[in-house]
Amino acid sequence: MPMASYDHLFQKLESQFLLDRAQMAPIVKGFIAEYQSGLKTPSKGIASMIPSFVTSLPTGNETGTFLSLDLGGTNLRVNAVELLGNGEVNIVENKRLATTELKEGTGEAFFDWIADTIKELVTEKASHLFSADQVSGKEALALGVCWSFPVDQTALDKGTLLKMGKGFVMSGVLGRDLADLFHEAFERKNMNVRVCALLNDTVGTLVAHAYANPRTRIGFIYATGCNAAYPEKVANIGKWDEQFRSQFNPEDEMLINTEIDIFGDDTYLPRTKYDLELCQNHSQPDFQPWEKMMSGAYLGELTRLVCLDFIKEGALFDGVVPAGWDKPWSFQTVMMSSIERDNTETRNKSTELLQETYDFASKPTKEDIQVITRICRIVSTRGAIMVAIAIASMIEKQQLHTKDSNSIVIGLNGSTYEFYPYMDDRVHKALRTWFGVEVSERIRIEIAREGGSIGGALIAMLAK
Ligand code: BGC
Repeated sequence: MPMASYDHLFQKLESQFLLDRAQMAPIVKGFIAEYQSGLKTPSKGIASMIPSFVTSLPTGNETGTFLSLDLGGTNLRVNAVELLGNGEVNIVENKRLATTELKEGTGEAFFDWIADTIKELVTEKASHLFSADQVSGKEALALGVCWSFPVDQTALDKGTLLKMGKGFVMSGVLGRDLADLFHEAFERKNMNVRVCALLNDTVGTLVAHAYANPRTRIGFIYATGCNAAYPEKVANIGKWDEQFRSQFNPEDEMLINTEIDIFGDDTYLPRTKYDLELCQNHSQPDFQPWEKMMSGAYLGELTRLVCLDFIKEGALFDGVVPAGWDKPWSFQTVMMSSIERDNTETRNKSTELLQETYDFASKPTKEDIQVITRICRIVSTRGAIMVAIAIASMIEKQQLHTKDSNSIVIGLNGSTYEFYPYMDDRVHKALRTWFGVEVSERIRIEIAREGGSIGGALIAMLAK
């Protein structure tokens, strides 16, 4: 059946997902209001606008070798980072997969696993970068920890672990000081390593990108999760009392981890029935409502749910639900990017990909693949619009669009932005919709690849 017969289904979907400027407006406004209120609300339980205690950005001229650790949704990376000056670095990395077993096990086993990964780096892979005393443990090594989860920081090297997303539910860690959890593991493993800085991955990205481009004013992650950081005047951090705030110059700026991922409620987020259904199938249904509409962990599941409706309407697979399609989370975001990237005439690549995952009564046709491709495009474009909305709200919060006519630089890190086809064009298009041509042409989204590792090392250095 040609795709045109299902135009009414696509029109309905597009009207809900492809937000125009008027539909973007309440979300931008809602985010700015959440920045203001988050700055005033103490960071307990589920928190936003978390001060990072990072008050200076690198100049690009720093040098030295430092240890950093980057825990994301999927991988643990520990790195020996050689800062060479001139914005240049050399990195030796030890990378491990954070398995479900580790994510759901005890905190002790988890932190022991991290300690072992660091030990292997220092004593084997990167031993040539450290002194003999550092390798043997006689001299302490400074570690910058880049943590892709919220932490209520009370100092640069202290902070309480708050609720984690991305499937991390280890026992015995919530409410504990993150640096203590590391130090206890280092003691069990007889290692001489000191955590000297804790930073969210967004803060790490901003710092790392500022090393390469000092004009950077936003650090953004668009990966499994989504979040951003920007510098805010200390005087505006109302969640601290006067006495605490007085340790800083009120006119200084501090990087703030917005935890924008948890923003949003139904007063201003246009959640569709698919978003609500996704939440029902999730182990933390009420947590991170905005992130669930747009990040890499969720785009695939949203697409699966939309496709189910199209199947029921007879617009896909002759109206027959393939075996396995009804299984939540079975359709991954990487499948969407493969399908959108498939430019074979026959669309055979996509057909094979689907057949590897699901059992079909009869082989999907080229038209089926065209329908799915269009659904992927619509769902991922809403993701891009949400990224643009977040960026727009942070530009407006800082008034970067009105200050001068310089470029507005965003350091961005994350697989969903970097590897999803056309994502960068879609984000830029949405920024143009919001700001118009003149301002949007000043916005530079630059890839900050080693945000976690370089950022961690730089802060470790600045702390030392
Ligand atoms: C976490 C943030 C993190 C973001 C990007 C979110 O789920 O809560 O702390 O910055 O993912 O990794």
